Amino acid sequence: MPKEKAPHELEDLPGIGPTSAEKLRAAGIDTLEKVAGAFPANISDACGISQDAAKKAIDAAREATTLNYETAKAILKRREDIGRISTGSKDLDELIGGGVETDAVTEVYGRFASGKTQIGFQLAVNVQLPKKEGGLGGNALFIDTEGTFRPERIVSMAKAAGLDPDKTLENIVVVRALNTDQQVLTAERADKLIVEKNIKLIIVDSLTSLFRAEFLGRGALNERQQKLNSHIHRLALLANKYNLAVYVTNQVMDNPGMLFGDPTTPIGGNILAHAATTMLYLRKSKEDKRIVRLVDSPVNQEGEGVIRITPDGIK
Ligand code: GTP
Ligand code: MG
Repeated sequence: MPKEKAPHELEDLPGIGPTSAEKLRAAGIDTLEKVAGAFPANISDACGISQDAAKKAIDAAREATTLNYETAKAILKRREDIGRISTGSKDLDELIGGGVETDAVTEVYGRFASGKTQIGFQLAVNVQLPKKEGGLGGNALFIDTEGTFRPERIVSMAKAAGLDPDKTLENIVVVRALNTDQQVLTAERADKLIVEKNIKLIIVDSLTSLFRAEFLGRGALNERQQKLNSHIHRLALLANKYNLAVYVTNQVMDNPGMLFGDPTTPIGGNILAHAATTMLYLRKSKEDKRIVRLVDSPVNQEGEGVIRITPDGIK
């Protein structure tokens, strides 16, 4: 029996025909390496094959690429290089294992005024602190899709953190994205900026609002998810390539089908759930208090913490 030829193209993978391959490419999964690094649900969502079939394709892609050949020692080394940015709240830091980590995507979802943007501001300030004070001695890229970036608030937080407000403002690059194309392109073209400006944190606030506004109706759902999926994939790639932290916010929508429990689910559903390394759900409590629930994390126990949004920032 002739030996099967090793896969070189997406179409060479088992279960991936030309149509599926096109859909994968449209979703940004355009190389065998990307297939090898994906979860079955990513592949299944992107091209509509079953999760079982997706798993077979991933296994074949893994065999054909060298992705698997990283030694455990190299992985340990990489884990040791992981940095953490303090949120300003000891409780929240502890909940997520010491702060928002690099080489990962952290997603916070919650209703309006729950504090998603405020945490983003605080991280953009704190990333500039030296390592021993809970920062990374680096700068931030803030992708603002809602027009809610407030430099005055950054100034208050910088002063409270003992940083020079002027310098702190200069170290935050703000991109106001007006549509999903601009949002996506900012991430696509970020490499040069990341290196030149020593970016150690990318904030996307919010990740989903423009997508929700642009892709209306059930017919557009698939297209929306594919574009969003590829955008998140790109962000995760940057996190890994430059060992930086990615913080994204997400609105919640009411889920009328749910009778018990909290009737809110993050927009983007599944795709976000498995692309984010850490997911936090934020909800209002009394006065300036907010309850943060750790929803999903590979290493930490699920749990809750309480933060306060004070004039000095997140505490
Ligand atoms: P949406 O973007 O509307 O979905 O909300 P969000 O989750 O981003 O909420 P945001 O982070 O904007 O939090 C808003 C809340 O933070 C307000 O209701 C205030 O309680 C608090 N807040 C905002 N600005 C300040 C400020 O300058 N000082 C203080 N002390 N609190 C503030
Ligand atoms: Mg906001």
